[in-house]
Amino acid sequence: MTSTLIHNIGELVTNDPERPGLLGIVEDAALVIEGGTVAWVGPAADAPTADEAYDAGGRAVLPGFVDSHSHLVFAGDRAAEFAARMAGESYAAGGIRTTVAATREATDEQLTSHVARLVQEMTRQGTTTVEIKSGYGLTTKDEARSLAIARQFTDETTFLGAHVVPDGTDPAAYVELVTGAMLEAARPHAKWIDVFCERGAFDVEHARAVLVAGRAVGLEGRLHANQLGPGPGVRLAAELGLRAVDHCTYLDDVDVDDLRDSGTIATLLPGVEFSTRQPYPDARRLLDAGVRVALASDCNPGSCFTSSIPLCIALAVREMGMTPAEAVHAVTRRGADALGRDDIGALVPGGRADLVMLDAPTHVHLAYRPGVPLVTGVWRAGRPT
Ligand code: NIG
Ligand code: FE
Repeated sequence: MTSTLIHNIGELVTNDPERPGLLGIVEDAALVIEGGTVAWVGPAADAPTADEAYDAGGRAVLPGFVDSHSHLVFAGDRAAEFAARMAGESYAAGGIRTTVAATREATDEQLTSHVARLVQEMTRQGTTTVEIKSGYGLTTKDEARSLAIARQFTDETTFLGAHVVPDGTDPAAYVELVTGAMLEAARPHAKWIDVFCERGAFDVEHARAVLVAGRAVGLEGRLHANQLGPGPGVRLAAELGLRAVDHCTYLDDVDVDDLRDSGTIATLLPGVEFSTRQPYPDARRLLDAGVRVALASDCNPGSCFTSSIPLCIALAVREMGMTPAEAVHAVTRRGADALGRDDIGALVPGGRADLVMLDAPTHVHLAYRPGVPLVTGVWRAGRPT
């Protein structure tokens, strides 16, 4: 087994709780990769020898970004809807149906190559693990094929048959389908189950029914909630002990207390507020209350068509009260937590060697130099991508 030493790392973000600070930073560091995992981490002066060596030239190295929320299986384009929003229209859940029609029309090959292109775009920007949802099929056949396509790219696949009620369908009858035949067809291809719990999508009782049915067949729940206005979704997520509840833009004090007490991760998606001109979620309030906060892209054709985690970091720092360290933690360690993964999100011996190298000396530059393509190298499971 070949070992590779990466040395002359100006700043190494480890997220190792045994090291000081939120990010467990080691300066003037080195790291050894062997067989896809991290074999050694520490000061360059103490580094062991290895078969190969790579000089990082004083650059920063971080754990690969974990994007725990995306909707990549779709066809079509909603640029006109975005332009209309920027001219004053507001965002509504119903736009999802436009993408559903285009997705149903697309061939498997078209959908697969589109996902491949988006995953490649993400990788170039430092994402080494991505969660991908279905939700633009909304028939048993189209949800199952969306998940089968997503599975070709990640193990973190999420069944989102309950994205919106299809046109001309009774909501209760649709929930029966989602919790019955559709769930059965989706299950072999999915790890998670999700619901869009919001006015214009699914109410809290329907959301509960879907999450409970998913859990009964081994799919862990996650939820879209409190995106467009206040609502009961976050409280439901806490009550069910879900691993993560996503959006969390409109929260009252009870929601915040419930998130803290349940340990459910609040995944904030600042690209959505950027692309819909809505107020940003208050990350500072959540962190100060002791809530675990992750950040993700929510890459989708409607509310947020960015695949860029560096953009999310910059927005979270500039607009949501996070420090650069908190934002980086939220897309690495917390992103991994949001997916229930302890093999990624940190650079510690035994963990997967998913690394991002920046053409910059510190992680702070991700927010300090917004919009600049700083990611210069990405390794997944020890291999350069
Ligand atoms: O996460 N909120 C629900 N679903 C997506 C938006 C989907 C769309 O508009 O197509 C989201 O923002
Ligand atoms: Fe989403």
